[in-house]
Order: sequence, then C-alpha cells, then structure tokens
Amino acid sequence: RGLTIGVDVGGTKIAAGLVDSAGKIVAEGRRETPATSPPEIVAAIVEVVKELRSRAEGQEVEAIGVGAAGFVDASRSEVLFAPNLAWRKEPLKEAVQARTSLPTVVENDANAAAWAEFQFGGGRDVDDMILLTIGTGLGGGLVLNGELYRGAFGVGGEVGHFRVVPNGHLCGCGNRGCWEQYASGRALVREARDFARSSPSQADALLALAGGTADRIEGPMVTKAAAAGDTAATELVQDLGRWLGEGIATLAAILDPAVVVIGGGVSEAADLLLEPARNAFWRQLTARGHRPTLEIRPAVLGNEAGIIGAADLARRR
Ligand code: BGC
Ligand code: NA
Ligand code: ZN
Repeated sequence: RGLTIGVDVGGTKIAAGLVDSAGKIVAEGRRETPATSPPEIVAAIVEVVKELRSRAEGQEVEAIGVGAAGFVDASRSEVLFAPNLAWRKEPLKEAVQARTSLPTVVENDANAAAWAEFQFGGGRDVDDMILLTIGTGLGGGLVLNGELYRGAFGVGGEVGHFRVVPNGHLCGCGNRGCWEQYASGRALVREARDFARSSPSQADALLALAGGTADRIEGPMVTKAAAAGDTAATELVQDLGRWLGEGIATLAAILDPAVVVIGGGVSEAADLLLEPARNAFWRQLTARGHRPTLEIRPAVLGNEAGIIGAADLARRR
C-alpha cells in the first residue's frame, strides 16, 4: 500500500509528514504558519506537500490529510472559523486538492491527533478516550465507543472553549474565560511575561533566556527553565497543570473516558505538568473514591500525533 501525507496546521507551526500504513513517518517537513494570511497558509501547505512528494522515492502518494487548528465543517472540507488563525469559512479542501491534484481530507487538528493516539499510541487499549493538545491553543479530540466524535455539525469536542472563569481572560474566539486562556501555550506565555514584568528579580532565569526582555519570553523558555529547576517557571507550569486537571474533572463528569492523553508542544514538560494535573483532577473529580478513575497519560506520539492522525484519516477517506 502507498503512502499518505499528513499536515498539521497549528497556530505557529505547520508540520507535515509522509506516513506509511503502520503510522510511521518516513519523511518530515516544517514551515512557520503565516497565521494572518489564508492564501499564504495554503501556499505553505502546498509547498511542504511538494517537498514530501519529492522524497517519496517513487512510491505512490495516495492522499493528503490536513489537520487544521479550527472548527471544521461536517463535510470535512471547510474551516468555518479559527480562534488563532485568520480562517473564516475557508475552503481548505478545495484549495489544497486543486493545487496538488491529490484527494484531500480536512480534519480538526486535535481530532486528528486523537485518532492517531487511539490507533497507534496512548489510547490503543481503550474504547473511550479524550486527547487534549496543548499548543498555541487548547484542542480536544473525543474518541467515544471507538469512533471519532464530530457532533452534528462537525465542530464537537471544542473543549478549549468551555468557560472556566466567568468574565475571565478574553479568548481568540471572542468569549471570555475559555479554558484555553488558562491551559495553553499562549496562556503560559501571558502569565510568564506578566510575572517577569511585575517580579523581575524572581524571574531572572526566564529573563536571561529571553535576552532580558519580558515580552520576548516564549513557551519553550518557560518549560526549559522549569525542567532546569527554576522556581518561578516551575510554578507557572504547575499552574497550567492545575487548570488542566480541573478541566479534565469536568470532562470526566460529562463523558467518562477511560483515558485522557495529553499532547502538544507544552506537554513536553511531562511530569512537571502532569503531576499537578493529576492532583487537581483528583481534588475536583465528582464522586471521587466512589467511581472508577480515568488515567491521565502523556501522548505516546508526542508532537507528531497530528501528522500521523491526519495521514491515517486520509488513507481511510
Ligand atoms: C481551536 C481548536 C484547535 C485547538 C488546537 C483551539 O483554539 O478552537 O479548533 O483544535 O485550538 O489547535
Ligand atoms: Na476537536
Ligand atoms: Zn474561546
């Protein structure tokens, strides 16, 4: 059987891979996401697809799966809306198909990652799992009864936008207090910069990584400083973990999954993030002690789940 291409279009990065039928990536390509220009996003996707096709070494490329960081319609062709990218009713499938002459499937990025973890990763042994991907935004993918759950209109599982704080921080979706504003890479960066501005003497490690300027602090600097044992950075990651765990308790109350898999860039902080998440989850879980308890696991496929899932969904189109 031939290869398919999976493209994961996130808020900051486009990651793509040539993937075989066992879910193994045989070649990878990357671009920055031109977040404010839909035509440039298409151009970047087409370019990275072209690059990967040239590396297929004569093997046939069957189809393309695009995992997109936004609300994808039920026919899996349009991105209706994206909180962190300039997509509004974007006919992504048509655009990519027309310029590559390959059958294309569009899926929400977190759904694609959830599918990959279910097929090949941290959810292989269960029928009900939720994947949370912590990147620029907070994405959710629901596998219920062994199937990807898309809802009536394609846009189910947008867990990043349930309200956790009345009148809280403004979200890219236009609402206030969305979970994404407390448990995402952007949230981590906002908190880290605020902290470095208001308490520079306690933020020396973070500031050193950012060349002395609070506004240059980026997510990976925080996770790096935390991994190196810096107190302020550790507390910032722990806070994110707490928000994560409390939200997972709410998801457990509604959906009762067996496993919640945590992926995305920020999840590279691993136990530094997952331990506070597990503790907060437990404290907040309804009927705790009187019910079976889900497991919170790190993504087995790491940051590549989105690519692998999109490629597998293209194969099954
Ligand atoms: C978007 C989701 C996406 C997630 C992760 C959220 O802001 O609403 O569609 O899955 O970010 O990229
Ligand atoms: Na989703
Ligand atoms: Zn929102």
